[in-house]
Amino acid sequence: MSNSVIIIGCGYIGRLLGARLAAQGAAVTGVVRSAESAARLPSLGIRALRLDLLSDPADALDTAGTAVLHLAPPPAEGREDPVTARLIEAFANRGQPRRLVYVGTTGVYGDCGGDWVDESRVPAPTADRALRRWDAEERLRAWSAATGAELVILRVAGIYACDRLPLARIQSGQPVVSADEAPWSNRIHADDLVDVCIAAMERAPAGALYNVCDGNPSTMTDYFLRVATAAGVAPPPQIPLAQAPGKVSAGMLSYLRESRRLSNRKLLRELGLTLRYPTLDAGLADCFADR
Ligand SMILES: NC(=O)c1ccc[n+]([C@@H]2O[C@H](COP(=O)([O-])OP(=O)(O)OC[C@H]3O[C@@H](n4cnc5c(N)ncnc54)[C@H](OP(=O)(O)O)[C@@H]3O)[C@@H](O)[C@H]2O)c1
Repeated sequence: MSNSVIIIGCGYIGRLLGARLAAQGAAVTGVVRSAESAARLPSLGIRALRLDLLSDPADALDTAGTAVLHLAPPPAEGREDPVTARLIEAFANRGQPRRLVYVGTTGVYGDCGGDWVDESRVPAPTADRALRRWDAEERLRAWSAATGAELVILRVAGIYACDRLPLARIQSGQPVVSADEAPWSNRIHADDLVDVCIAAMERAPAGALYNVCDGNPSTMTDYFLRVATAAGVAPPPQIPLAQAPGKVSAGMLSYLRESRRLSNRKLLRELGLTLRYPTLDAGLADCFADR
């Protein structure tokens, strides 16, 4: 079996993932668009390949028999994912991978009214960002059925890590929705996501689908307040939900329209994983251990 791994969209998570895989002896190629992102890869043991899947020919992609980790997001507009469409075209021309792990989002479930949600929940995406992710999933399922290539879909919750906490937002004084009105949201620590991606690549059953989260949901407001407390900075002001339009970003408003609590039981059971950071407090304790 080939030990070639191609990371499509080798950004923040891709770099952590690629460095780990390269250290384990895999031949890792990371696909990015910009020269800046490409320059960050070689010192991690990752071969950089600059390619905008939306506009460049994919002749340099050598995908036959490889494991592909697909982390490239769809464009910011529309309800379809042309990046995934182009990737599937490239496979037809350049050779089918053995397995593809797709890093999608939990947005495909849409608003669940705060229900607990496992993988049996019928997706009901409504926001355009979620429809694009649903389009990617559907395209990949059709591709897998047509080619026999193995597909694993990860529906990933909000990613946090010590160097990507919303400290600048908190310090700028932007408000959050009052704690008692804030919808449920879900998170996963970046290091745990990397473990999940590797397990999905190495041992998930073909066709598997997993929610990727720590299994301990709270609200977005709770997240901001806990980060502020852990960092020792003033908490953001709270406003009623009705006042949020105009006071928080359009992106944040879209997230505030959705509430769900995600179960990670299937992920932990089937992949035999123990999370490094099963709670936000565990993750934050690690970030501010010296305080
Ligand atoms: N943020 C969250 O909480 C969250 C939650 C769930 C899922 N996700 C998803 O998880 C994935 C990984 O996240 P991340 O933080 O590692 O993202 P990231 O740092 O933004 O990395 C994405 C990478 O994809 C590359 N890319 C984008 N469009 C491309 C295209 N058309 N052709 C080729 N490469 C392209 C970018 O290249 P350049 O660097 O050259 O631009 C970048 O390196 C993303 O799909 C993200 O949307 C994020």
